[in-house]
Amino acid sequence: MKVLVIGSGGREHAIVWKLIQSPRVTEIFCAPGNAGINKTTKGVNIKADDIDGLLIFAKENKIEFTVVGPEVPLEKGIVDLFTANGLLIFGPQKSAARLEHSKIFAKDFMKRNNIPTAEYETFNLNDEAKVNEYIEFAKYPLVIKADGLAAGKGVIICQDKDEAKQTVKELFSDKIFGSAGENIVIEEFLEGTEASVFAICDGENYLVLPASQDHKKIGEGETGKNTGGMGAYAPAEKAVSHETMSKIKHRVIEPVIKYMKAEGSEFRGCLYCGLMIDKNNNPYVIEFNTRFGDPETQVVLPKIKSDLCDMFIASASGNIQSYKLELNENYYCTVVLASEGYPDKYETGKEIKGLDRISSEAIVFHAGTREENGKLLTNGGRVLNVTGFSPIGLKEAINFAYHNAERIKFENKYLREDIGLKGL
Ligand code: AMP
Ligand code: GLY
Repeated sequence: MKVLVIGSGGREHAIVWKLIQSPRVTEIFCAPGNAGINKTTKGVNIKADDIDGLLIFAKENKIEFTVVGPEVPLEKGIVDLFTANGLLIFGPQKSAARLEHSKIFAKDFMKRNNIPTAEYETFNLNDEAKVNEYIEFAKYPLVIKADGLAAGKGVIICQDKDEAKQTVKELFSDKIFGSAGENIVIEEFLEGTEASVFAICDGENYLVLPASQDHKKIGEGETGKNTGGMGAYAPAEKAVSHETMSKIKHRVIEPVIKYMKAEGSEFRGCLYCGLMIDKNNNPYVIEFNTRFGDPETQVVLPKIKSDLCDMFIASASGNIQSYKLELNENYYCTVVLASEGYPDKYETGKEIKGLDRISSEAIVFHAGTREENGKLLTNGGRVLNVTGFSPIGLKEAINFAYHNAERIKFENKYLREDIGLKGL
């Protein structure tokens, strides 16, 4: 089968790495890919959000199945477009992807269907007087979120009134997120333990993958700015017990699938539940994404023993019940090697060395890399993901990740030293 994967990060490298283990996959392309991905696939020079260009490519090259990594092509309707052209594709249609690309849609959907989430109000930029009055009498900390996609930066936690007023000004007047910030959600601050759970859905049924935990802040101990994610581990057994997972299924995943279908937007693809688990082990939804998480994918997919291509096809063709998920016993921990300065300004083009010294207890997924004149160079904020694994325990997986991360050298390399520790 000829397969096309869309995207260029560590998540897509993990997807490609696992897909090529499938005997079903005879040829694999990735658009646009990166230096690591393009070693095992045919790189296609089309951007992930150029959905018309991707359609032309898929038709010309007789692609039989397409897997979408990032959120932007989903928001643009790539699944609707490919499906209308008779092409099989893994992911949700545009109206179902609203669970991610409109926070207001997601919050209102949860409210009307009794899915547990933080209390909230929504405001439009014409409501400035109303929002200021709300801020005056709110409880702090308070969370302000841009409605639309903001590359993971659209959530601001405000400690007091002044910060909240400043944030609203930046969103409504300075338009730091453009039109994505013209509507906002203001919500209650939730306390507890965060976890990520992926459900692979086919519109009616689903299966869940092992829970994981991301490390979103740039600094150790969850300090400093929010990033795309600096590391992750799985399974997150301490944060999500069997009992908690069953609450997540019954209170979150099942109602999402049931009511999205009832409301005319059946959900296929990966439903990413970003959850806060409170002290009584009750889950609350912080956010939905409608695609795999990055870097959680780099620790979740390697746990799958069964065929990933079969799983994706079962999801896309409404047949997930027939798929038998098999997992291995390993623990996984991935450490992101970033460019110093990320998530703000950073330099690229630094030569990367040491990838030939990686031991057999680790897998390196490329995120922001490119190749030039035979040299491997940094090409982004998040550069590489070093995933260590062990059947013995999480601690061993963490050690393998860090031992191998140390062997990789490039100028301005930055990593967090505490990935996975919260899972011990
Ligand atoms: P999001 O982009 O929605 O995942 O939000 C980014 C991060 O902000 C989350 O991972 C949480 O750490 C934090 N966050 C978002 N909403 C809330 C909330 N209601 N209460 C506490 N923390 C939150
Ligand atoms: N790791 C967070 C995300 O993918 O949105």
